[in-house]
Amino acid sequence: MLRPVLLYLSKAVWARRVVTGWGFARRASSRFVAGESLEAAIGAVQTLGARGLNATLDHLGEQVTTAAEARAAAGDYLVILDRICAAGVRSNASLKLSQLGLGVDTELCRDNLRQIVRKGAECGIFIRIDMEDSATVDRTLDIYRSLAAERLTDVGLVLQAYLFRTEDDLRSLLAEGARIRLCKGAYQEPPTIAFAKKADVDRNYDRLTSMMIAASLQTGSEPSSADGRLPARTALATHDPRRIEFARQEAARLGLPPRALEFQMLYGIRADLQHALGAEGYPVRIYVPYGTEWYPYYIRRLAERPANVWFFLSNLIRG
Ligand code: FDA
Repeated sequence: MLRPVLLYLSKAVWARRVVTGWGFARRASSRFVAGESLEAAIGAVQTLGARGLNATLDHLGEQVTTAAEARAAAGDYLVILDRICAAGVRSNASLKLSQLGLGVDTELCRDNLRQIVRKGAECGIFIRIDMEDSATVDRTLDIYRSLAAERLTDVGLVLQAYLFRTEDDLRSLLAEGARIRLCKGAYQEPPTIAFAKKADVDRNYDRLTSMMIAASLQTGSEPSSADGRLPARTALATHDPRRIEFARQEAARLGLPPRALEFQMLYGIRADLQHALGAEGYPVRIYVPYGTEWYPYYIRRLAERPANVWFFLSNLIRG
């Protein structure tokens, strides 16, 4: 009940205007956001690195509406890649195509992404394309595939277990050698195209996990690179202990070594689990978002867990 309301609010311009005007809301969002500046984010990545955790940096921003904003966002990513390279930190980068102009002009978006992936490749930095709402999936796959056809290989994408179509997408993309991050999915989707019940999403997540593990055994179960920038071929983004346990057992059953199974989690969520998995020898990568455009990202995190909303409201009451 609360989830659809929050996911609606995450896209509502009026709600963004109101909430971002509240100082306490920015403070509350800092639980999930590493800071407003690139330097703050690099500091967070260094702290994670010192604990043996890899990162993927995300410059917050999505749904730009002009070509100038899209070009500026791409320019920001070129700076980020330079900084990751210069700082020598264990991080790659994640981005959203709607931030690079997907909603403005598909060719502009493709060009922006191409520039970023080429720049990343100069320093061995992998680029992960986040997956947004279902209306963007076909275009996201198309742009990814066109870059792959140009032999730009340091790029991969995300698939969402809540979509009915994902099993077919995953099968094709694995056959093409794509590097996939599997997540459950964070947007509001109709029951005609997505599983509505959590139990069904979870079951599909396990099924897709099995497909990824089986495929990685066939094509080579590449672990993450020693510098932490290239993710393992099988990258599972979840904080759900049951999904993680399923993946571990499935990998062990098929003889996949722990270092070939990468677990990914969000900054500020289940740090205990992040460290426990790292200590067991699994590569763990933390998604580290930063920047001033925290509103939609933060509201999606509230939507995932009602307890976060009560925390937010208690801050509101305390002023
Ligand atoms: P689930 O929601 O079942 O949560 C399992 C447990 O995790 C909870 O019981 C709780 O302990 C903890 N937890 C989960 N969310 C929490 C929160 N917000 N606050 C506090 N605790 C929380 N989605 C998408 O649509 N496109 C994308 O590109 C990505 N990319 C992405 C990258 C990475 C690295 C991660 C970890 C996640 C994403 N997601 C995403 C988000 C994903 O789709 C999903 O919404 C969240 O990960 C929550 O789902 P879980 O798998 O954690 O399970």
